[in-house]
Amino acid sequence: MKIAIASDHGGYELKEYIIGFVMGMGFEVEDLGTNSAESVDYPEFGKKCAEAVVSGEADRGVVVCGTGIGISIAANKVKGARCALCTSEEMAEMTRKHNDANILALGGRTTKPEVALSILNKFLFTEFEGGRHQKRVDLLNSY
Ligand code: RB5
Repeated sequence: MKIAIASDHGGYELKEYIIGFVMGMGFEVEDLGTNSAESVDYPEFGKKCAEAVVSGEADRGVVVCGTGIGISIAANKVKGARCALCTSEEMAEMTRKHNDANILALGGRTTKPEVALSILNKFLFTEFEGGRHQKRVDLLNSY
């Protein structure tokens, strides 16, 4: 599985931490920046990551900004992106099972690194349930 990951400066540190973890697990990673703690605009990075996922270049995406809010809004502007901002393992599990989320958003300033990793773990290893949820995901994809 190939994972595209992007952040702004507020999420830079957590992004770097996550990349180490994900590569250690044997996943392929596409790092779309940013590459330092210098101030940048999160919409550009959310869009880049979502485009990589929606085009099929990556299987899943992870986006990080200070709160995870701005960059998730940006990612969800791309048609076909289903980006979920998660602050708990339960949210990550549910968004995979019910929404087939293809991008995870995390807050670099609001979620502790070890909590972020447990959320990411659920996001990567929980399958979509399909069934009654498929029609709703199809509706999302049609908008
Ligand atoms: C940047 O200061 C901050 O606004 C950004 O990282 C994010 O939290 C926006 O939602």
